[in-house]
Amino acid sequence: MFGKKKTKPQIDKDQLELIENAQKRIKQKKRLYVHFVIFLIGAIFLIVANTVLGIGKNITPLGKEWFLYAILIWLFLFIYHLFNVFITHKFMGKAWEKEQLEKLVSKQQDRINKLKEGLLKEETLIAKSEAFKDTNIKNSNLTIIVAAAENNAIGKGNKLIWHLSDDLKRFKVLTSGHHIIMGRKTFESFPKPLPNRIHIVITRQKNYEVPTGVIVVNNLQDAIDAAKSDSQPFIIGGGEIYKQALTFASKIELTRVHHSFEADTFFPEIDNTIWKETANTFHTKDAEHDYEFSFITYERK
Ligand SMILES: NC(=O)c1ccc[n+]([C@@H]2O[C@H](COP(=O)([O-])OP(=O)(O)OC[C@H]3O[C@@H](n4cnc5c(N)ncnc54)[C@H](OP(=O)(O)O)[C@@H]3O)[C@@H](O)[C@H]2O)c1
Repeated sequence: MFGKKKTKPQIDKDQLELIENAQKRIKQKKRLYVHFVIFLIGAIFLIVANTVLGIGKNITPLGKEWFLYAILIWLFLFIYHLFNVFITHKFMGKAWEKEQLEKLVSKQQDRINKLKEGLLKEETLIAKSEAFKDTNIKNSNLTIIVAAAENNAIGKGNKLIWHLSDDLKRFKVLTSGHHIIMGRKTFESFPKPLPNRIHIVITRQKNYEVPTGVIVVNNLQDAIDAAKSDSQPFIIGGGEIYKQALTFASKIELTRVHHSFEADTFFPEIDNTIWKETANTFHTKDAEHDYEFSFITYERK
């Protein structure tokens, strides 16, 4: 009753297939070997039949004995057999089929992965839009103002990369009288606070010291809250703050500098599925401006 149960050896489908294939190969090679032996004996027989027994002595096409042609044809058939066993089998045999199948499966897998990525991107966009809708700052008209190169470069070594006086003038006109929200590094890149604007500096430092009138907060949400009374607060940089604020902004005032620069700080890519261009003014290169640039306004769709 409690005797040992006999365990049946388990062979799975793959193993069985491998064994069957191996048996098939052995058979194929055996047949080839037999063919070779028969060919050797047959060739000797044909030579003996002609030269010793005199069979077909008078048959000499193109001046050669007939058995030479017979042996050549047979040799050709044998080579064809050999080719089938070792070459065709290699390219078109089970292993080749399996390899092709694997390639096909991996291609399909790539396509599935790409589709998944696309889906993920779409989900992220929806989540971002939802996050924007959910925030109570929807009507706060938070505007990002930035100057970015063609490669989205915005700064290097905590400095701006270019000097475009008309861009600075526009920055002054648009932001004057408003709250300007910035990261601690951007604030430190100014020699002193900009006149006629309320500065809100974001830092994780608890006792960050600033001149009187400058507001210090510890996160972006607090910065937006601190600017609540303003009908149009501006996010003025830098890279870290732009990245975080893009979800909450309803407008981007971009100065696109038509050149690419080496940089260590970049503006995020503007997603055309979220933002629509509503204004675009081109500015040529001149004595005061080393590069061409465009003032572009984007509004959330
Ligand atoms: N082209 C333009 O329009 C433009 C505009 C502005 C700036 N810039 C350039 O941008 C560069 C500076 O940008 P950046 O990315 O290096 O620095 P940044 O964004 O100006 O400031 C980064 C700092 O902000 C604070 N911070 C960021 N996220 C925070 C959060 N969630 N909570 C609390 N504090 C947070 C941290 O300060 P702590 O380390 O103190 O915690 C962090 O080190 C400079 O090269 C500047 O010239 C360019």
